[in-house]
Amino acid sequence: MFKTLRLQLRFLLPLAITLVAAAYLAVPLLDQVTLRWFARDLNSRGQLVAGTLSDNAADAISSGRYERLRATMERVAQDERLFAMGLCSPDRRWLVRTSGFPRELSCQQAETVAAQPEHRLDLAGGPVHLGVHPVIGTPVQPLVAQTPSSAASSAAQASSLFVGPLIEPRAAPSDAQPVQLGELVLVHDLSFMERRSQDTRRYLIVFLAVLGFVIAVITMVVAQLSWRGWVNGVRAILRGEGLLTPMVPAPELAPFAEEMQQRLRDLEDEYRRLQGPESEWTAERLRALLHSQLSGDQVIVVSNREPYIHEHGENGVVVRRPASGLVTAVEPVMRACSGTWIAHGSGSADREVVDAQDRVAVPPGHDDYYLRRIWLSAEEERGYYFGFANEGLWPLCHVAHVRPIFRENDWETYKAVNQRFADAVVAEARSEDPVVLVQDYHFALLPAMVREKLPQATILTFWHIPWPNPESFGICPWRKELLQGLLGSTILGFHTRFHCRNFMETVDRYLEARIEQEHSTISFQDKETLVEAYPISIEWPAPATVAGWGPVVDCRQRVFARLGLAEDTCLAVGVDRFDYTKGILERLNAVERLLEKHPEWVGRFVFVQVAAPTRSSLEEYRSFQDRIERMSQRINERFGRPGYQPVHLLAQHHEPEQVNELFRAANICVVTSLHDGMNLVSKEFVAARDDEQGVLLLSRFAGAARELTEALIVNPYHVEETADALYQAATMPSAEQRERMASLRSTVHEFNVYRWAGHMLSDAARWRLRARVEARVRRLQQSTDGIKPHSKAAHTTRDAP
Ligand code: G6P
Repeated sequence: MFKTLRLQLRFLLPLAITLVAAAYLAVPLLDQVTLRWFARDLNSRGQLVAGTLSDNAADAISSGRYERLRATMERVAQDERLFAMGLCSPDRRWLVRTSGFPRELSCQQAETVAAQPEHRLDLAGGPVHLGVHPVIGTPVQPLVAQTPSSAASSAAQASSLFVGPLIEPRAAPSDAQPVQLGELVLVHDLSFMERRSQDTRRYLIVFLAVLGFVIAVITMVVAQLSWRGWVNGVRAILRGEGLLTPMVPAPELAPFAEEMQQRLRDLEDEYRRLQGPESEWTAERLRALLHSQLSGDQVIVVSNREPYIHEHGENGVVVRRPASGLVTAVEPVMRACSGTWIAHGSGSADREVVDAQDRVAVPPGHDDYYLRRIWLSAEEERGYYFGFANEGLWPLCHVAHVRPIFRENDWETYKAVNQRFADAVVAEARSEDPVVLVQDYHFALLPAMVREKLPQATILTFWHIPWPNPESFGICPWRKELLQGLLGSTILGFHTRFHCRNFMETVDRYLEARIEQEHSTISFQDKETLVEAYPISIEWPAPATVAGWGPVVDCRQRVFARLGLAEDTCLAVGVDRFDYTKGILERLNAVERLLEKHPEWVGRFVFVQVAAPTRSSLEEYRSFQDRIERMSQRINERFGRPGYQPVHLLAQHHEPEQVNELFRAANICVVTSLHDGMNLVSKEFVAARDDEQGVLLLSRFAGAARELTEALIVNPYHVEETADALYQAATMPSAEQRERMASLRSTVHEFNVYRWAGHMLSDAARWRLRARVEARVRRLQQSTDGIKPHSKAAHTTRDAP
């Protein structure tokens, strides 16, 4: 506001100075002009008077009798503006003067003044205008010339103004020519003119002042309006709303509004399509994106599993990194973005290290972000995590032929725990529009719960596991509630387009929603969600990290020594959570079949399975783990011999460094998931092999198979095919290994986890921008329609997230 005033003053001050200067110059000019007008006016008036008196004056001069003339002149001089009159003789003496005639004025002087253009003379009583008009007539002989003494007595009798010679008139000769007999001097009062001039000056000044004021007011109003317009415009641009702000709704724009919406969508689609190969995504680039496109908004991650678990060890509290693809992917993103990660505090020493707000800074020693722990009772964990999430949703979404179990109690607990985490998100939010990254099937209801409290939040939900087809999903009793909960998200991400399609078809089947396949959006209850594929990945190891690993031969030596393997052993490894979806049974079958088919490998082929215990309290998992143990035993009994054990089952937690060492020591990595959203083990193996050796054997049912096409792709249900692939891997020449591995490595390097997060966040940023522009267009549309938006408009637009 003050800025506006200052700006306006900058304009108004010169304006005021200009007006004063104009007045200063205009007033004398005006005076001069009006004076001339009056002089001309007085001259013509004088001529009129002189013309009228001319004959009388001529007669008086001819007759030498001035009484009557004087009386007439006195009457005429009573005019307001005619101040006095006099009659001069040809030899410039006063013959007659009216009573008010200025004494000091001589005939000669009067003539001189009248010769000037302004005819003005300043007397003691004020300025006068002098007009001198000749009196023409025929001269006559004076009859009697009076003596000076008699003349003096007559003058004394009459008036001191009667100054002419006393002449007795005589008849004029008949041939006499008219000559100038004298001059009538008219003295006009100029003081009224002064008064008028002053009035005019006053009027002019008042006029200029009023004019200045009016211009100032108009200027201020216009400046105010346009300043506001500009400020709004600039603000809108800064908010990314473009220059639509100052647009005045016009009815003729209505047809364009919808077209514009359409065009915006097309542009966005085009942009997304153009996002092909691009420069490398790094933590720095992700950080920069967060600051530039999302104005450094706060990032809040919600997941069930925490990235760091504090546990009591033999020598005090130890920090453990859980075996979870989710944690592997999201943790580096969080290190880059800072913020808060809300998760279930499940470690035995977790409570001992948190502050009063249940927070602890992590990673230990770096303190890049806060881990906010939520405490769950055993009952809550049973119902929400083991029950609904892992006995219900997990088998529901994975085609692993394990029946999902849905219990009413589990569902209620799932709802309640989702609400607790949602409340924690709201409590942690420092603004109305934080970026909330919701992770996985543990929190299907949370997006809508957060949206209710924080309507402006940008909620990015990532579903880390597959999404089944509508028929399979339909067996869930609370399918609608789950879908509605997820549609509270701004963006809902899956690993593959196939899972996106499954989700959209499921919504189409069970909800009243508008689906736009072309734009991959779902509009439900006036909210729109972008459903998009974002293949998750890992952090590509930095050169310094790789340097710390040590040479591959050293890793191989250490692992071989630990496991007691012969030097020429072909080592195949599997690293998984101990889960029935991972196809561990199927790969053991394949190993057995390989040894059957290729006995020459007995004694030289060893398979090591790292199986991190998980969900062991569930019957399905317990029996599966027992089965694997029995099967491993059976193979070892069948093909083992002193000093040779074909299968090593390491059913314990391994830290990432240990897993990495194993990957570097191995010849083959076996990933045979029966159904997997992505599977990051396959990518970690590739990242570990900077020597470009080693073969990846990958299930076609893992999302990673779509990206890692240079792997040996297998159907794990097909034992023969998998066994043959194992054989192909074991016998693959080094050059082929290098060719395949180099290609795999460039894929994983480029499609790293920063790219995954970067694409989601830049989509979110564009989404926010588009939502704002669309909201504006919608308002424009509504104002031109003059009615509430019809259902189509409501479906095709969204609230600004
Ligand atoms: C894997 C899945 C994730 C899931 C996690 C849960 O990483 O890919 O989708 O969230 O397992 O594991 P947990 O041990 O925490 O139950």
